[in-house]
Amino acid sequence: MDKLVIEGGKPLSGTIVIQGAKNAALPILAASLLAEGTFRIEHVPELLDIDVMLNILRELGCRAEHSGDTVVLDTEPAHTSHVPESLMKQMRSSIFLMGPLLARFGEAEVYQPGGCAIGERKIDLHLHGLQALGAEIEEFGNRIVCRAEKLRGADIHLSFPSVGATENIMMAAVRAEGRTTLTNAAREPEIQDLQRFLNAMGAKIMGAGTDTITIEGVQSLNPCQYRVIPDRIVAGTIMVAAAATRGQVTLQNTQPAHLSSLIHVLRRAGVQIVVDGDIIKVGCATRPKAVERVVTSPYPAFPTDLQSQLMVLLTLADGVSIMKETIFEGRLKHVDELSRMGADIRVDMNAAFIRGVPRLYGATVEATDLRAGAALVIAGLAAHGRTVVEQIHHIDRGYDKIESMLTRLGARISRYSPVPNN
Ligand code: EPZ
Repeated sequence: MDKLVIEGGKPLSGTIVIQGAKNAALPILAASLLAEGTFRIEHVPELLDIDVMLNILRELGCRAEHSGDTVVLDTEPAHTSHVPESLMKQMRSSIFLMGPLLARFGEAEVYQPGGCAIGERKIDLHLHGLQALGAEIEEFGNRIVCRAEKLRGADIHLSFPSVGATENIMMAAVRAEGRTTLTNAAREPEIQDLQRFLNAMGAKIMGAGTDTITIEGVQSLNPCQYRVIPDRIVAGTIMVAAAATRGQVTLQNTQPAHLSSLIHVLRRAGVQIVVDGDIIKVGCATRPKAVERVVTSPYPAFPTDLQSQLMVLLTLADGVSIMKETIFEGRLKHVDELSRMGADIRVDMNAAFIRGVPRLYGATVEATDLRAGAALVIAGLAAHGRTVVEQIHHIDRGYDKIESMLTRLGARISRYSPVPNN
């Protein structure tokens, strides 16, 4: 398995252009099944998760090409609603296919996508939402079969503002008969992007970005051309890396409004942030200050996907910080690895008490999930000495060649691929 080797202690500096948003592109690619024809979707990053989604679409019969950051997708040949278990299990987001397949074919056969290191990741809210629209769902072990002669609009309330459930219900409701009102919907920017994409296809959706989304069902939808929003989590990761290495970095192609919670916390830690249009400048020449309390919550609050990255900065801050993870029950696994680099962190249930230390030290550490892996890379960049990050396939799921991105900012980082034993 590939590894990243990092010689730490060098401040990041320079300019970086942010990639398209993985968590917007994935539901948008799934939603393309709702129409027959050729789509051109731009600003789609080259990531393992995107590859998996394109392979699933090909397995369903679509033709898909991904060159540079543009996907050309012909969904007309799609002929089956059965997603193979082998592909379903490779990625949680495969569950996004249920809504579009149900709307297009009147049935969908998928498999429990499985959890990963961050938690159980149930799908009950997805299933309840689709049932409210008229789907009949049977589960045979981890195989899930959905059928719907006709989808009918409904009033649906989510007990938790689940991002994926909101997106799945939106995608099923666009072809339902009548109006669907979804309350306590998730408000993430990626959901707003999905609404824009579906409306560009001819859907009639309003309210994404608020907690109430209204979908007027339509008879048919058409292919379109679309450009995906920038990835706010990749941007946030780079911002924290700039601060943790006491560097000076300019990020281009961002949407600062999507990062307001992180910008607020970094400023409280004494990091200089200048926003100018789609440019964010980040600088931190002195030791950051501890931040008394950071709690992850649904957007627009502080995102769980930046929790592990920010924790690295706080391990180097002056004072004691508290971080509370309220979204995923298993998303503090990076703490053990950071402790091996000299961090002083105590975990009690879902809260981490972080006492800042003067420096971290290089070590061999293991990525346990996508964002924990990114956090360990930041720790390696800031640490004194050499850090080896293993299991970096997790990182490749969400960052397009992270070592190239960071090398452009002056980092001393290389990828090592072991020679296969033949
Ligand atoms: C999306 O996952 C993102 N993934 C995640 O990003 C992100 O962390 C998460 O939203 C929260 O913002 C994509 O968009 C592809 P949820 P999703 O449904 O949709 C519980 C990354 O690093 N829940 O909002 O799976 C669930 O167990 C990834 O890019 C149910 O109980 O998140 C979790 O505790 C990681 N029942 C909480 O809700 C359900 O039916 C949030 O899950 C669905 C969810």
